[in-house]
Amino acid sequence: KPAQAQTASVFDFPEVTAGVDADHHVAEGYNAQVLLRWGDKVFADAPEFDPKNQSEAAQERQFGYNNDFVGFIPADDSSDHGLLVVNHEYTNEHLMFPGIVTLADQETAEADGELSIAPADESRVNIEMAAHGGTVIEIRKDGDAWVPVLEGANNRRITAKTPMQLTGPAAGHDRLKTSADSTGREVLGTINNCAGGVTPWGTYVMAEENFHGYFIGELPEGHAEAANYERYGVPGGSYEWGKFHDRFDLAKEPNEPNRFGWVVEVDVEDPTSTPKKRTALGRFKHEGAESIVAPDGRVVFYLGDDERFDYVYKFVTAGKYTPDDRAANMDLLDDGTLYVARFDEDGSVEWMPLTHGEGPLTAENGFESQADVLIETRRAADLLEATPMDRPEDIEPNGTNGRVYVMLTNNTKREDPNAANPRIENAFGHIVEIAETDGDFAGTTGTWEILVQCGDPSIAEVGATFSTETTENGWFGMPDNCAVDSDGRLWVSTDGNSAGDTGRTDGLWAMDTEGDARGTSRLFYRVPVGAEMCGPCPTPDLATFFVAVQHPGDGGEDWDGFGRVSYYEDLSTRWPDFQDDMPVRPSVVAITKQGGGRIG
Ligand code: FEO
Ligand code: CA
Ligand code: CA
Ligand code: CA
Repeated sequence: KPAQAQTASVFDFPEVTAGVDADHHVAEGYNAQVLLRWGDKVFADAPEFDPKNQSEAAQERQFGYNNDFVGFIPADDSSDHGLLVVNHEYTNEHLMFPGIVTLADQETAEADGELSIAPADESRVNIEMAAHGGTVIEIRKDGDAWVPVLEGANNRRITAKTPMQLTGPAAGHDRLKTSADSTGREVLGTINNCAGGVTPWGTYVMAEENFHGYFIGELPEGHAEAANYERYGVPGGSYEWGKFHDRFDLAKEPNEPNRFGWVVEVDVEDPTSTPKKRTALGRFKHEGAESIVAPDGRVVFYLGDDERFDYVYKFVTAGKYTPDDRAANMDLLDDGTLYVARFDEDGSVEWMPLTHGEGPLTAENGFESQADVLIETRRAADLLEATPMDRPEDIEPNGTNGRVYVMLTNNTKREDPNAANPRIENAFGHIVEIAETDGDFAGTTGTWEILVQCGDPSIAEVGATFSTETTENGWFGMPDNCAVDSDGRLWVSTDGNSAGDTGRTDGLWAMDTEGDARGTSRLFYRVPVGAEMCGPCPTPDLATFFVAVQHPGDGGEDWDGFGRVSYYEDLSTRWPDFQDDMPVRPSVVAITKQGGGRIG
């Protein structure tokens, strides 16, 4: 019987053995080339990476930290030359800065199992801010290898200080004004960009996710934003930026958190352009923003809000996409309808508009205008009784089969299951597949089913539903990013499989969705110990997959000059350089088939 499923599978590669060690591993017959590492030059005149003497000025010219979303914008339809766009989601101070964990801190941390690091100074904070944001860099295939083009005219670093413009219905609203910006339209920087997208017109979209963690301090007594901020977990207090930059301290700049949590659009063809925060797409912990052109020409963006019990959204532009006229599309994201999903027991899904004046979204409920609906998107969706999900991460439409794939990473706090989130204490997550009515991505109804419940199928209590053809290497937990390649095949990358819990690292799995093979998964690539897998980004010809290895070596138990690098029992890593004087470095990897040809 295995023969039948194997012939039905759309994948054909030798599976990687699941496990854990210091290095990354790709399927036999493929090459995995480290293309861009934290600290690598983005410009020809950038300084060499010197991790023991890092500076804000150097970091602003170098590849940032914790690469998450990776997109490829082809030059002249080429699959061998184009712009790589990469989000730098966050920073891991304990892995970046030598000596940050003192011996006393280590002893305390070992005793209580908690990491303790030295307080930040201003220079460290400014390096962290410069390591956030994104990178736009020209790359080119040279023989079998990819190379960065450091002279690329469009190369750019975007950071937590880059001037940006707020646009769309909420722009200019009083709730977005600060002492530094009386217009409510000019913001400095973008933070915690997790996944993202590339639009049909070739712009780069960055999704601001866990923005709450950057704020400290307390709102003034009785401040009008108190309930709003509570719904978003502001202030999260994970960073010390507010000690040196007043805008991240609620006591000093109470409206600043309303200027984050948006989707940012970047015109990559003009490195001097001002990135735009497109408020029409709502304010929440945006995971990604993958898009597709609907049959009538409107463009649909699928959006996840990554928090336990939060929602799945989509945005449908009012205007239509104009092929071959890039300029005509450049402000499509300022006008359209934002919808939130309700997944019903009968297998139907309804997309409910978040439109001011409709249903409960009125002044009686505190929404004076569409700006209020967008600034408090979560509260608006609560009132519409959207379905609380198990942490919506990446969502990707498939133009080949007309369906949409929703990664739901986990939710160990779920006690009340619903049809679309059926497991209590859902540790391993699941994938929901939506079929929009008549394949119309811009429509307001559809059906849904669960493609797979994740986890180890050999442990009955886990309740995993991979196909029986899935090997012991092929199952995964905690789906996070995904990609539908140009042949309509689904690839899933994971965040959270740890050596201690599952004896395996995160990685990239190929997932059949059609015919007898549906629900069969197999492991294509796995990351070094402690890392998370982001991407993949396939080139249009499917000859290259770019993947992002995020926070290698994180989560460990021992320390050295660069923080915690020893992860699990005696296992440690210095990936990818494996040099004593180099820290672990988050990196983008280019995977190609030996001798060329289609991957997978
Ligand atoms: Fe940054 Fe939702 O992962
Ligand atoms: Ca991430
Ligand atoms: Ca993610
Ligand atoms: Ca995640």
